[in-house]
Amino acid sequence: MEVFSDKEQIAHVIEGFKEQQLTIGFVPTMGALHKGHLALVEKALENNNKVVVSVFVNPTQFNNVDDLKKYPRTLEKDVLLLETVSKDILIFAPSVDDIYEGNTVSQHFNFDGLEHEMEGKFREGHFDGVGTVVKRLFEIVKPDNAYFGEKDFQQLQIIKKLVSKYFIPVNVIGCKIHRETNGLAMSSRNTRLTENQKKQAPFIYKTLKSAKKFFGTKSANWISKWVDTQFINNEVLKLEYFIIADINSLKQISRKTKNTKYRAFIAVYAGDIRLIDNIALN
Ligand code: PAF
Repeated sequence: MEVFSDKEQIAHVIEGFKEQQLTIGFVPTMGALHKGHLALVEKALENNNKVVVSVFVNPTQFNNVDDLKKYPRTLEKDVLLLETVSKDILIFAPSVDDIYEGNTVSQHFNFDGLEHEMEGKFREGHFDGVGTVVKRLFEIVKPDNAYFGEKDFQQLQIIKKLVSKYFIPVNVIGCKIHRETNGLAMSSRNTRLTENQKKQAPFIYKTLKSAKKFFGTKSANWISKWVDTQFINNEVLKLEYFIIADINSLKQISRKTKNTKYRAFIAVYAGDIRLIDNIALN
């Protein structure tokens, strides 16, 4: 297991792999790894000769300074966890300066409107930050395949857009959401939940499953209103948004059309911890 903090060094090693025609699988993360991340790493190991995992808490994608400060940073634990999957993984844990070279600002992107939906409305500049760091990481790691979880489904669609707009030769692979046995979507932020919040949080997925059940017979508007009422009296979980959207445009729908795939998306606060989740509806 090798941990690189210097981008030139890891780029040099990767260059050597490329010369030997070895394929590179890449799992970008912000650390505080959990089983969901490990599943991405396992998939990358299955399908590539070499696997790189980046651990980098990207400041430009946080629109809330407090959230950035409190984001869990557990590199030593992350390394040990990755070792349980394979010792043949390259970990890239750069500094902010290494990535941003003294100018910690985002590039501005046009993702054909995907960036203005859902998370884009509530986290200003978030996808510029994600686009900036993922583009830079792709330039350093030059992966053949890159793996992202569907929990951040909007992010996944935006990264697919990024590679197609900038002709980045990487295959972006979405992987299914990993859940705790109680249904809560795995997230690095879950470690910050109190016992009571942990007990309540599975209600988020329970609500999504009900929305899916209703989707066959009820309108999108009806379901949205129903979800609103479910959270009105909840003392612990505060609903930020629930929407049903076309998976390609990510635009909220009021009416279903044939041959279109939909997902329900939700964002909820438990105290100051923001949890997101989504479910395929058809
Ligand atoms: O999903 C994440 O953990 C981050 O948004 C990513 C893709 C690693 C970019 O910082």
